[in-house]
Amino acid sequence: MTIKTVGVLGCGLMGSGIAQVSAQSGYKTLVREVDQPTLDKGLARIRKFLDDGVAKGKTTGEARDRTLANLCPTTRFDEMGPCDLIIEAIVENADEKKAAYAALETVVGTHAIFASNTSSLCITELAAATGRPDRFVGLHFFNPVPIMKLVEVTRALTTNEETYQTVFSLAQSLGKEPITAPDRPGFIVNRLLVPYLLDAVRAYENGLGTLEDIDTGMKLGCGHPMGPFTLLDFVGLDTTYYIANIMFDEFREPAYAPPPLLKRMVLAGRLGRKSGRGFYAY
Ligand code: NAI
Repeated sequence: MTIKTVGVLGCGLMGSGIAQVSAQSGYKTLVREVDQPTLDKGLARIRKFLDDGVAKGKTTGEARDRTLANLCPTTRFDEMGPCDLIIEAIVENADEKKAAYAALETVVGTHAIFASNTSSLCITELAAATGRPDRFVGLHFFNPVPIMKLVEVTRALTTNEETYQTVFSLAQSLGKEPITAPDRPGFIVNRLLVPYLLDAVRAYENGLGTLEDIDTGMKLGCGHPMGPFTLLDFVGLDTTYYIANIMFDEFREPAYAPPPLLKRMVLAGRLGRKSGRGFYAY
C-alpha cells in the first residue's frame, strides 16, 4: 500500500515533531488539534525549529518553505478524510485515544491505517477499540522527533502483515531507523531504560553518592550523553512515575516499582525541567 497523505492527531510536543518530519519527507500532512491557540502553538514550534535550522545552515530556506507548504493544519476531524495513515499523538489516556479513533472512523476511508505514538498503553487494546484492528500499529517516536533516529514499530495481536510492512517502510522514508518492538509495556527502549533510572533513584536514596557524582560517573564512565538524574529531569519525573506504575502493574517485578523518593518528588510538583525543579533546579 502506498501512503501519500499522512494525518497527525495532536500538535503537542510529539505531534508537532511527527508532523514536521512527515512534511519534510514530502508527504502532504494534515495535523489536527483541539483548538486554534493550541494548534498555533504547535505550528510555532515547527516554524522555530525550521528557522533555527536555516540560521545554523542545517537546512535551506527553500526546504523550510517546502515543508511548511506540505503542512495542512486544522481543528476539524472531517478534514482528515483523505488520510492514508493517521499517526495519533494525543494525551496518554486510553479513553481519550479511543474517542478520537471513533471520531476518525466516521471520516476516513476503510483503507486508512491508524498508528499510535503511545509510550505505555497496550497496542492490542487500542486496536480492538477501533473498527480496524488489523490496520492498527504502534509507532513510537522519540523526543525530539526531528533529531532522534529511532522509531519502535509494534504489532497488535491483530495487525496484518501488509499494515506492519507499510508502516515500517514509511518510518524509513521519514529518515528514521525502525526496530520491531513487542506489545509489552515499555516496548524495548523503556523496558531497559526505566529500571535503570529507577535503580539510580534507589541507589541515590541509599547514599551511593551525590547526584552530580552519579551523573558524572555514568556520563564519563559509560559514555552516556547525560547521567540518569539529568535524563530524569529531561523526560519528566511524572512521566517516568506513570510509566513505572504501568510496567509494575503488568510485570509485578520489583525492578519496575517506583521508588518512594520519585513518588514524593512528583507529589511535591518537582517534575524536572518543565516545572523548573526536579533533581536539579533550572
Ligand atoms: P502533549 O501534551 O505535548 O501533546 C498532546 C496534544 O494532543 C495536546 O496539544 C492536546 O491538545 C492534543 N489533543 C488532545 N486530544 C486531541 C484530539 N482528540 N485531537 C487532536 N489533538 C488532541 O503530549 P506529548 O508529549 O506530545 O505526548 C503525546 C503522545 O506521545 C502520548 O501518547 C505520549 O505517551 C507519547 N510520547 C511522548 C513522548 C515524550 O517524550 N513526551 C515520547 C514518545 C511518545
